[in-house]
Amino acid sequence: MANRYKSDLTRDEVTPRDVYLNRRQIMAGAGSLLGAGLVAGQARAEDAWDLTPTDYEDATNYNNFYEFGTDKSDPARHAGQMTTEPWSIEIDGMVDNPGTYSFEDVVAGMTIEERIYRLRCVERWSMVIPWSGFELADLLERVGVQDGARYVAFETLARPEEMPGLRVPIIEWPYREGLRLDEAMHPLTIMATGMYDEPLPNQNGAPIRLVVPWKYGYKSIKSIVRITLTDEQPPTAWNTYSAREYGFYSNVNPERSHPRWSQQFERRVGGGLFANNIPTLMFNGYEEEVAHLYEGMDLIEFH
Ligand code: MTE
Repeated sequence: MANRYKSDLTRDEVTPRDVYLNRRQIMAGAGSLLGAGLVAGQARAEDAWDLTPTDYEDATNYNNFYEFGTDKSDPARHAGQMTTEPWSIEIDGMVDNPGTYSFEDVVAGMTIEERIYRLRCVERWSMVIPWSGFELADLLERVGVQDGARYVAFETLARPEEMPGLRVPIIEWPYREGLRLDEAMHPLTIMATGMYDEPLPNQNGAPIRLVVPWKYGYKSIKSIVRITLTDEQPPTAWNTYSAREYGFYSNVNPERSHPRWSQQFERRVGGGLFANNIPTLMFNGYEEEVAHLYEGMDLIEFH
């Protein structure tokens, strides 16, 4: 399964053309970085934009899904307990067609496509995941966003009988996230229903999760049961936990250190010895596609 992505599909086939073009430009820039003398032992800068998918084993056994525990292996061990059928999603707030929709109903009629995206966790590890899903914009258009709505809020299932992690009050459950409406409508923002050509494994957020590739991984909220359109910036799990450490925007930004560690480099999971210090790219490499969303904003203050 994983091999298919390594051997059979070229990047041209799997990467939207504009993203691919962006890659060429980034690599040109990375070349000059190399010229400036990255020391031996650090990753070759071209590794910063390598879209070789992470091995399926790593992507499904090294996870963050705190509802099942804080250890990276907890989600794979415990998420099997989560009932994902039936599944429904409440869509409410400033929409023309509020309601509780079944997962099947939400997905019906959506164009499911594959997107190979880089995933950069705020903890400094990264992966490359071949998602399948649809653009969130298509769903929002279907439910009808009302004038005046400015943000989209998301909530994860919180079912204590099936989620042992809920016993530990690390963050306020349910896990919550949010996007500005223009971020939510951006074509790179998807609702994933699968990965590696298979339905999403529970530990990766079955049956449906958000994926926002230019933001730290914690914005990509798993196992979504509620989507709310609102005119106010919604509270989010990690920002509520510590606003100084985790901003609302959470755009990947190597210049904005976490108070306890630098964000200049990342470790590609499964990448071996030479993938420990890959330069982290502004907006995780999607700068050309998304920088316009933040024009004029101070990205250190609004992190
Ligand atoms: N969503 C929920 N509901 N609970 C979580 O703990 N962890 C986040 C994000 N979504 C998390 C979540 C973090 S920190 C990351 S890095 C990604 O999921 C990890 O996604 P993955 O395990 O599929 O790689």
